[in-house]
Amino acid sequence: MQQKIIILDFGSQTTQLIGRRVRELDTFCEILPYNKFPKNDPSVIGVILSGSPFSVYDEKAFKIELDEIRGKYPILGICYGAQFMSYALGGKVEPAESREYGRANLQTFDHENPLFKGFDEHSQVWMSHGDTITALPEGFKVIASTDKVVNAAYQAEGEPLWGVQFHPEVFHSVQGSLLLKNFVVDICGGKQDWSAASFVETTVAELKEQLGNDRVILGLSGGVDSSVAAVLLNKAIGKNLTCIFVDHGMLRKNEFKNVMHDYECLGLNVIGVDASEKFFKDLEGVTDPEQKRKIIGRDFIEVFDAEAHKITDAKWLAQGTIYPDRIESLNITGKTIKSHHNVGGLPEEMNLKLCEPLQWLFKDEVRKVGRELGMPEHLITRHPFPGPGLAVRILGDITPEKVRILQDADDIFIQGLRDWNLYDQVWQAGVILLPIKSVGVMGDERTYERAVALRAVTSTDAMTADWAHLPYEFMAKVSNDIINKVKGVNRVCYDISSKPPATIEWE
Ligand code: XMP
Repeated sequence: MQQKIIILDFGSQTTQLIGRRVRELDTFCEILPYNKFPKNDPSVIGVILSGSPFSVYDEKAFKIELDEIRGKYPILGICYGAQFMSYALGGKVEPAESREYGRANLQTFDHENPLFKGFDEHSQVWMSHGDTITALPEGFKVIASTDKVVNAAYQAEGEPLWGVQFHPEVFHSVQGSLLLKNFVVDICGGKQDWSAASFVETTVAELKEQLGNDRVILGLSGGVDSSVAAVLLNKAIGKNLTCIFVDHGMLRKNEFKNVMHDYECLGLNVIGVDASEKFFKDLEGVTDPEQKRKIIGRDFIEVFDAEAHKITDAKWLAQGTIYPDRIESLNITGKTIKSHHNVGGLPEEMNLKLCEPLQWLFKDEVRKVGRELGMPEHLITRHPFPGPGLAVRILGDITPEKVRILQDADDIFIQGLRDWNLYDQVWQAGVILLPIKSVGVMGDERTYERAVALRAVTSTDAMTADWAHLPYEFMAKVSNDIINKVKGVNRVCYDISSKPPATIEWE
């Protein structure tokens, strides 16, 4: 049985990070809403209580019955988690005289306490709290203090129950990962046996069991997540999996052909549908970005649905949904899970059941699983690409001619990034076709042609992004190549805006 740590989410911005850190210890974990603790699950080996935007004495503060977990599992409370346990068990939590945000150092700590095994003197930790624990419950002892916070960490004496006021999960808590390792591995007995190989083995076995001899349909996009999901399912059920890859005509140059080839080499049973004519027709004259997205979304469902209906005995729809698509920290309204529709919505009348084999994985774990499955590196490290494709990179209306120009320019830029070993250093890159013409001169001829903008950004999650500081020599070469080789373009600009306030895409 796969051991797991449960992280109860009280709504903190950093709850997902706790999950990341535990996974980095090769230990499986699940992040669940604070009030959804799985009773009677023998695979649970420990519980972590996250931070929260609330104060414990707020009327709306999220509360749990500690008796459900206390005495049954080792518990670690982080920030609000620590304050809540202290408060619920008779201690005192009050607004701090000065709210404490940022770096702090552990002035003293209990060197013998298993939570601090291997800690350095004055270890730096990251604080972010407005309240502070002013009195611990009876039978609790302080095990670490900073110059401002006396009860920076505590343990219930003789019990496997700890609380820390700081955030071990954030990068600036220098030995935060060590603290989590002490908890997960030494205290909870985590075997650190969660790996891509073990994931593939268990998931394939589970899928075989769950799907039996049923037929499954999966929408492929060419992206990492849906491709890995397909290869995993193919390993489990082989020809009972039918993949559908829709070409809306606004993919990158030769992408449909190349990706189809890759999929076929991987042994997938793929139906490629060239629906570009329909999309071009429906998009004719449309300039509003949101309108473009709506039309593409609607057409996509129509085309996918029509194909899927041909597989009359299908019972399941598989999706490449990954963990960050599913979890969203609790907000004040108590909404927990955001809706996710990787293929644009489940065709309801088909009555398909949903199968999401990657739903517990983070992006880098999906990539590891892809490698474990022997997928080619260029499929695994592929940049993100928006669902509506080049449609949102052509400002103004869309025509096949504009798509051709953009595909050619984009191909030179992306191939250039690969040739110069820059591709893996940027999060995402592409070219935008601007709705303006400018004057140029080529040979003895005056030209009046289009301008394009290059966009390349660095990021870790697309929530924030910086423009990539690409070498001038590289940009000079790309600019020259585009102007010389792409008919219809005589000017190249580079977008040096960060997100926020700009976004990655222009539309
Ligand atoms: P923005 O432009 O909001 O983009 O900074 C953030 C990330 O999302 C991608 N993106 C999309 N992906 N459908 C998608 O599937 C869309 O309509 C869409 N719009 C933006 C974008 O490429 C970037 O990775």
